[in-house]
Amino acid sequence: MSTAAAFQHLLIEDRDAVRIVTINRPDKLNALNREVLTELRDVFRAIAEDPSVRVAVLRGAGEKAFVAGADIAELAALSPTQARDFSQHGQRMMRGIELLGKPVIAMIRGYALGGGMELAMSCHLRIAADNAKVGQPEINLGVLPGFGGTQRLLRLAGRGATLELCLTGAPINAQRAFELGLLNRIVPAEQLEDATLALAAQLAAAAPQALRGILDAVQIGGECGIDAGLEFETQAFAVCTSTNDMREGTKAFLERRKPVFRGD
Ligand code: COA
Repeated sequence: MSTAAAFQHLLIEDRDAVRIVTINRPDKLNALNREVLTELRDVFRAIAEDPSVRVAVLRGAGEKAFVAGADIAELAALSPTQARDFSQHGQRMMRGIELLGKPVIAMIRGYALGGGMELAMSCHLRIAADNAKVGQPEINLGVLPGFGGTQRLLRLAGRGATLELCLTGAPINAQRAFELGLLNRIVPAEQLEDATLALAAQLAAAAPQALRGILDAVQIGGECGIDAGLEFETQAFAVCTSTNDMREGTKAFLERRKPVFRGD
């Protein structure tokens, strides 16, 4: 990716149609300061606009953490108006990931706490090492989640789990997070990268318009009544029939071969 040099805190690597975005502040456990939020916003905007990228993987540098939260050194000095702007900045960036229209996989090694958990929840799939620890510890700092945590946790895991995690601030292990529906898969730590890239490659081989329809229908359907959601699903389904990929997918099935989806 040509803009890689423009990022101070992100590493970017393309593997075929998969863009791997690494938050690179391992000495601060990849904590999210303003600059990181801005760079993440920009990198995902670029992904949205680049048809050669079909899937993104988001990860943290180092062995210890995906992301250990918003940067507490910055947080400590915020005025109320700065805090509002910081919260909205993070929320908008994460909403951008959620509505990207391409699958984003969070690859979680070690800690995904506070803003790190919120970031992971704005991704579409979460695959974690068995050493992962997740939670919303903001209460211990005298604040609450400000990057969508109360809302996305509620939608993913329900009211009881959300209140428990946010009110106590206690982290939970990967197995418990999996049971609550916060993680899609847990794998041994040494297999995390291979398993994540295999999943990403599988999604990158799928028909992009159909992926987009699924992402949008689930997102929109989760936020409106069932009739509006069903109508959206119908429209997204119909749009797919206008693609060459749909013709290729059905033809390949009938010819008993693997489809090759070109994204048109
Ligand atoms: N913001 C800023 N810096 C952070 C950070 C954060 N959210 N999380 C970790 N760091 C920094 C530490 O200050 C330390 O920096 P230093 O070496 O310059 O002192 C470095 O990252 C390593 O962290 P450390 O606490 O020494 O590692 P640990 O293994 O002892 O503990 C955690 C790991 C994750 C349990 C601990 O770092 C922690 O509780 N972090 C904050 C989690 C949190 O409350 N997140 C929500 C923020 S709203």
